[in-house]
Amino acid sequence: MTKKAMPGDALHGPGLTDVRDMVMAHDAFRRALRSSASLVSAVNDGDRKRAGVVADHLELMLGLLVHHHEGEDALLWPMLLQRVPEELAPLMR
Ligand SMILES: [Fe+2]
Repeated sequence: MTKKAMPGDALHGPGLTDVRDMVMAHDAFRRALRSSASLVSAVNDGDRKRAGVVADHLELMLGLLVHHHEGEDALLWPMLLQRVPEELAPLMR
């Protein structure tokens, strides 16, 4: 039986897969998406240069997010479904 992960469990160590990079990536996406509305609303009317910078930034972040999730769909979720199907069942409804 697989031990269910709990908040505060170690993210790395002997016998564990190091998932610290996943935490870092998800935190970065959350920060970027959380700040997107204020970035857009802070652009002054008519400031096409700043609007372009913000648009380029958001396009990059959203592209990275799509790439990240395509990688998870191809590499992570199939392995998790194989290894811990009972723990994922509530998420798959
Ligand atoms: Fe993710």
